[in-house]
Amino acid sequence: MLLNHEKINFLHLPTPLEYLPTLSKELEIELYIKRDDLTGIGMGGNKLRKLEYLLYDAKAKGATTLLTMGGAQTNHGRLTAAVAAKYGMKCVILCIDEYPGEVSANILLDRLMGAEVVLKKSDGRNVTTQYEELEAEVTKRYESNGEIVYSIPIGGSNELGILGYYECAMELTKQAEEKNLKNARVITTVGSMGTYMGLFCGLKNEKSPLSLTGVAILPFETDKDTHIMRYFEKVKDFYDLPLTPTGSDFDVEVDYIREGYNKPNPAVREAIYKMARKEAIILDPCYTGKTFAAILDMVQEGKIEKGETIIFLHTGGHPGINTPFHRIEMEKELIDGVTIL
Ligand SMILES: Cc1ncc(COP(=O)(O)O)c(C=O)c1O
Repeated sequence: MLLNHEKINFLHLPTPLEYLPTLSKELEIELYIKRDDLTGIGMGGNKLRKLEYLLYDAKAKGATTLLTMGGAQTNHGRLTAAVAAKYGMKCVILCIDEYPGEVSANILLDRLMGAEVVLKKSDGRNVTTQYEELEAEVTKRYESNGEIVYSIPIGGSNELGILGYYECAMELTKQAEEKNLKNARVITTVGSMGTYMGLFCGLKNEKSPLSLTGVAILPFETDKDTHIMRYFEKVKDFYDLPLTPTGSDFDVEVDYIREGYNKPNPAVREAIYKMARKEAIILDPCYTGKTFAAILDMVQEGKIEKGETIIFLHTGGHPGINTPFHRIEMEKELIDGVTIL
């Protein structure tokens, strides 16, 4: 139980904290990776930590169906599908997005695990409004079939969802202590921000010596500081946290968004190839590949100092490499190493 909230345990915890010797030598830093891609069911990833708490709440409220939303390649949707399958529930994933042209990557996995995927092309109006309308329509359909629907926001990033990463902050602090890592900095991807906020609150509230940097992979809808403080205040009030940070206490990089959310990018692909070829760890083009590309740039730019200890949080997402528009770009670059006799 964390901050007086129950969860249903289904993760493989603690996830490993591994040293990356080859990349450490090449980059002249001490590089560790926290393997939250290995959290267990449904091919793993960060959202499962949030879902342990959300599932408990859903079950406590008598829900029979989990409804969530996100882009067509939502990893959070896939992991919600995994949890629903394992716990005998239905799952429906709403995507205001284009159909990517084939049932592959996360959509394939959603369907393998029995979830319904509802795709609706944006009509150009405010996306939140479109999601609200679609959610009302689909919920009504499920309810008319006797289902009790539990709605989980995009990325599972509400006040409850952050608990998974509050807990991860404590797990990381213990692992760093056991490995005698001094002044280590955790670097994580920032999407809907639940992961970053959970880590921030956990590290600060538990007085961890670890510091934290987030790497935004899409632009904030409003001014960065306002966005972060608004989310933090909600969490602080919900848990009555005795923390009083100012905007500058939140370290979130916005210089590495590149073309925008989930857009193919050569530097991101290079970062994915580097991690795969030097350490045999698979990253994804939307989240972790972009964050690792940012780490490579930050080393070049001196934002990460020589000799610094970095813990890169691998939040999962590798099914994304099979998204058609990413796969096509990779195929062009990788075909030269395929010998066809
Ligand atoms: C693989 C992966 N990494 C990182 C993130 C970002 O996490 P958050 O939305 O909690 O910021 C996501 C979110 O969808 C994800 O799927």
